[in-house]
Amino acid sequence: MLLPGAAGRRDREAGRRSTSSPNEVVHTPGSAAVSTRARRARPLRRPVVVVGWLALAIASRLLALVKYVWNGMPRGVRRGVHAVLDSTGVPYVLNYLAGYDERHQHRNFAGNLAALNAAYVSASPVEREELTRQFKGIVDALVMKNGVKKSTHPMRQNRILRQVLADPRCRLDSGPITVLELPASTGVTALDNFATLSQRYGIEAYVLGDLFWHLHYDTDRECIFDEDFNLLQVKTRKRFFSIYRPARSGERYRALAGLMLFPFELASQYLKGKCRYSATNSNVLIRVLHPDAETRVETGAFTVKRLDVFKPIDGRYDVILCFNLLLPDYFRKDRIAQGTENLTRALRERGLLIMGDEVHFSVAQKRDGRLCVVKRAGGA
Ligand SMILES: C[S@@+](CC[C@H](N)C(=O)[O-])C[C@H]1O[C@@H](n2cnc3c(N)ncnc32)[C@H](O)[C@@H]1O
Repeated sequence: MLLPGAAGRRDREAGRRSTSSPNEVVHTPGSAAVSTRARRARPLRRPVVVVGWLALAIASRLLALVKYVWNGMPRGVRRGVHAVLDSTGVPYVLNYLAGYDERHQHRNFAGNLAALNAAYVSASPVEREELTRQFKGIVDALVMKNGVKKSTHPMRQNRILRQVLADPRCRLDSGPITVLELPASTGVTALDNFATLSQRYGIEAYVLGDLFWHLHYDTDRECIFDEDFNLLQVKTRKRFFSIYRPARSGERYRALAGLMLFPFELASQYLKGKCRYSATNSNVLIRVLHPDAETRVETGAFTVKRLDVFKPIDGRYDVILCFNLLLPDYFRKDRIAQGTENLTRALRERGLLIMGDEVHFSVAQKRDGRLCVVKRAGGA
């Protein structure tokens, strides 16, 4: 469900009423600016939610105690304990709980995106810096059904990309190149990656691919749904609740972690039953694309595509950038191999696949249909 540029601009300015149902998608342009000011969220005070918050309060206190004891231990002991504990999933749980309160403040609720996008368009450079921080808080807290976060920020891969382009082993001999950035999240990394790549190569096409580009915001019930109508967030009186926990399909998420976070799972199940998607006039379609990237879509420099890395990928590319997705934290080995295989098929012969996170990366070239690693750093 991709919008042409002009419609994208309207979205950005106002957000739009979305009266879609899972079987029927209808868009009606909104005229007035959408207010995402904190409406009085309906208190969700059913026992299961209360139990969830209670568990969180107890866990926070326990965590403070654990932190105190932990900080008093010698560094060597801490390293050993951490290595053993990591295999249990306990550090995952502690990290999740430690950041919970801060991450789930109202300012990070995804419903704010429509107003933020609109504010960004007319903001001064100083105001934009603050808005950029707010964007970051929102995408860091937005967890999709498969446990992948939407998190991104400007210049995230730029250091790595510069390093790769400066290496003679990673040269492309073709003329103008086609580039796929998958996943692209809100497109902010594409802005600086495009600039860096275009210093060395002509760019014929730059495609931003991601599993989703829109959210449905039910402004009446204060619920956020993804493009496939899965409930993702519910605003409550003091915070908001995330239905999915990050990295839950990854290697660090163990059975014990699942058990310890069971109260969250209960609350998720309860809310999913209570807040089902329904087509109403209070729904707003939010475009999850940064306004600067939207401008590039409008000028034709970027193309936006809805792509799933685990499904066959349209088109053939000279360079594919895949950062912060096919990682052990997010997926098991066989899924990572499947995603890598799909990306390889989408590469042209002699094309480059650059993958990794902020620290680790690998560059592989397609030769005779197979990937050959030409550069690696940080153990990726
Ligand atoms: C952590 S962000 C990384 C974005 C960007 N590459 C970066 O490094 O800043 C992960 C992105 O992967 C997308 N995603 C999750 N599952 C996906 C899938 N199966 N196929 C394509 N994109 C996916 C999410 O929507 C999200 O935008």
